[in-house]
Amino acid sequence: MCGIVGYTGTKNATPILIDGLDTLAYRGYDSAGIAVWNGTDIVMRKEKGQLQNLKDILKNDPISGSCGIGHTRWATHGEPSYINSHPHGDDKKQLVLVHNGIIENYVRLKAMLQERGCKFVSDTDTEVVAQLLGDLYHGDPIGAITESMRLIEGSFALAILFRDDPYRIYCVCKDSPMVVGYGKDGAHIASDIPAMLAYTRDVTFMGDKQIAVLSPEGIAFYDEFGTPIDKGSTHIDWDLDAAKKGSYEHYMMKEICEQPVAFRKTAEQYVNFKSGKLKADCFPWSDEDAGAVKRIRIIGCGTAYHAGLLGKLYFKRLAGIPCESEIASEFRYSGYEFEPGELLFVISQSGETADTIAAMRMAKAAGVRTVAVCNVIGSTIAREADEVLFTYAGPEIAVAATKSYLTQVTVLFLAALRLAQVRGRIDDARSRELIDGLAAVPAAMESILAKKEKIQYFSSREFSARHVFFIGRGADSALAMEAALKLKEISYIHSEAYAAGELKHGTIALIEEGTLVIALVTQPSLAAKTASNIEEVRVRGANVLAVTNGPMPDVESHCASVWRIEKTDELLAPFTAIIPMQLFAYYMAVQKGCPVDKPRNLAKSVTVE
Ligand code: M6R
Repeated sequence: MCGIVGYTGTKNATPILIDGLDTLAYRGYDSAGIAVWNGTDIVMRKEKGQLQNLKDILKNDPISGSCGIGHTRWATHGEPSYINSHPHGDDKKQLVLVHNGIIENYVRLKAMLQERGCKFVSDTDTEVVAQLLGDLYHGDPIGAITESMRLIEGSFALAILFRDDPYRIYCVCKDSPMVVGYGKDGAHIASDIPAMLAYTRDVTFMGDKQIAVLSPEGIAFYDEFGTPIDKGSTHIDWDLDAAKKGSYEHYMMKEICEQPVAFRKTAEQYVNFKSGKLKADCFPWSDEDAGAVKRIRIIGCGTAYHAGLLGKLYFKRLAGIPCESEIASEFRYSGYEFEPGELLFVISQSGETADTIAAMRMAKAAGVRTVAVCNVIGSTIAREADEVLFTYAGPEIAVAATKSYLTQVTVLFLAALRLAQVRGRIDDARSRELIDGLAAVPAAMESILAKKEKIQYFSSREFSARHVFFIGRGADSALAMEAALKLKEISYIHSEAYAAGELKHGTIALIEEGTLVIALVTQPSLAAKTASNIEEVRVRGANVLAVTNGPMPDVESHCASVWRIEKTDELLAPFTAIIPMQLFAYYMAVQKGCPVDKPRNLAKSVTVE
């Protein structure tokens, strides 16, 4: 999705803006632009396509100045083109701005402004905001911004330069993230934390409709009525290198390989491995609260939804609590009526996914207690949920979620274990057994990663596959969904996940000679049943690869290929079994020459509906 950066201070703004846009490029974009005050005027450069195109333009036609804003655009209103790329300005040439989000009433506003004589040059909703602000501007930037907020419907993060106040950047946002921070050479703004880390680690998250005014001397904040307010800052201790690729060819491979550490860091927040006990005070439930939970609902999108499917299994099996996991974009329009005693888990890596936020707000409005599982401190979901169980995955840059999924599942497992303990559903011995099993997970992951070439070799033989089916039962069925999503999103190979027992109710018609079927068989209690389903597809010509939980001769005998994970408790198997699936998707995409980290049409953080 779109990205915003801005800087005002003592240095040349252009390299700082380009560096910030480079950092935000992972979010996905199709054009980029900057605007800089060069001492006499606000000058813009923008171009369609890769950031390199903008860099080339700047090489031939540089601009310099100490105050500027920049943007990467992911087209929503109007095709990707020079004209539609940001920054946009008003007719009277009083201001330029960049915008993330969607202005829902832009058609109505545009008509009103056209009647007042405004001439539009682009198809964007953003230009409507620029023209509206220009129309309302009479020398008082804050007045114009507060006035425009009363007219605009939708989501927005805006960074604005006014020509007659050229060393200040005015920022405002609603339902679209924005952080500001003051570094040693001036003030910075960004739509995403990694773009700030090189300049400052103390950042302030902007709240809805709050205004920030950045100047070389500092940052001032105002509420939606223009009244000055104080805002604190949050220290971000993400390692700067964590957001860099290092010696890896792709972020995705780096992030896959970081999973043993991400798992350990996350688990250690909630578990004392020495004593073999959960850190009870890290969970938001008193004994009374835990006993009062009647039902759990988990919401998320994409990979986060898939983590929720495993969470559902854990809450049911471990804690004995009825649980449903739902896609946030469906749930929010389902007309669901919450019942007393329901708890809503909100899963999101970024904490900014529009549908997930909307579903969470719906639950909050109904008085339901919300618990976020989130990776980004200060994000909208982390701020608005009643409680947050953070994941400690560090910044995830590749569009394909890997370590965030793993850590989300980890937190959901531990939350279920905690509820199970408080509700008396599990004895000490079994708790200890599971915690000891968790302690062994990082080593089991490392052992898969150490043999990743085996998966690479397999992928080199299979990358021309046109369809791949992933099958499994129970937890494996949830894992299969995540495996299929990983493969399709980065390799563009059609892949489907099926509950293994469901195949013969229709989908088995698609199996023909050579069809690749990947059977996840990490649940010993269901293995015999899955083995029968494997045999059903094998005899119809499928080329079956099984992922097994240690040696499983009765399953392996039906399969052309086998990848084993270290034998483990079936509740813990998903932590390791997902890794070969991620590696498989990665190598298939690399073999096909796909842009692994930034797959076509996708964005890292989906801040629009
Ligand atoms: O930031 P979130 O966890 O809320 O993102 C939800 C999905 O957009 C995300 O998990 C998406 O499905 C993955 N990038 C796919 O790999």
